[in-house]
Amino acid sequence: MSTPPLALRRHGPAGGLPLVLLHAFPLDSRIWDDALPHLRSVPVVTLDAPGFGGSAPLPGEPSLEAYADAVHSTLTGAGIGRAVVAGLSMGGYTALALAERHPGLLAGIGLLDTKAEADSEQARAGRLAVAGRAEEVGAEAVLGMVETLLAPATRARRPEITDRVRSRLAEAPGPAIAWAQRAMAARPGRLGVLERVAGPGLVLRGEFDAAIPPAALTSMAAALGRGPGPGAEPVTVPGAGHLSCLEAPAEVAAALLRLHGRAR
Ligand code: MLT
Repeated sequence: MSTPPLALRRHGPAGGLPLVLLHAFPLDSRIWDDALPHLRSVPVVTLDAPGFGGSAPLPGEPSLEAYADAVHSTLTGAGIGRAVVAGLSMGGYTALALAERHPGLLAGIGLLDTKAEADSEQARAGRLAVAGRAEEVGAEAVLGMVETLLAPATRARRPEITDRVRSRLAEAPGPAIAWAQRAMAARPGRLGVLERVAGPGLVLRGEFDAAIPPAALTSMAAALGRGPGPGAEPVTVPGAGHLSCLEAPAEVAAALLRLHGRAR
């Protein structure tokens, strides 16, 4: 089935290997806004997930495979056949699905505040409950997520970021929240995919990420180390929580530039 293209924005220089950035749930590509000024030396492409930001919903059953296929067809339609792809959290799950389904696209992979394991039964049930609630009450179903998205110190001392995240959560469309939660609940574990990645990797986590345990990074780095590529740089971002690219944009951008510099 042909799918509508996702909303795509280009930043920085026109030529060269693009760095494609995939955002976290239930936000949109604006999570990269503060990192973009630090990425001016490379061509950057940001995309909105189905139903979020400027992207239309996708037809059919919710799945990250469908999202990954839409990323691939959107990039192909924009003349991009090869890119470094980095995703934060849900964006990372999608980057893993891309690596599985469209390995030729990937010149390198960045996995930020994410994991390659599938959900537990309990986590899956929680997602389906949030999906159902989002269909009833919309964004109210996700307003409490600010507690897990940001580090305690960010929430206590950086009201500009905290208020921005709160207002973005309040904008999240109910149908898109439900679609994405069902898609994430259905995703399989993809550690084995990383053992086939030929390009360089980055595995990055905010020091105080309440959603992703440090072990999730260790296992992704180990899987990339078993693959044919040069392996992954592990990075812990001091002081940041789950939304590391908003809480420490310069540090995250620097790690992305190092990944981009290792890719061909
Ligand atoms: C995200 O930031 O994308 C979410 O925390 C992902 C998830 O719910 O697993």
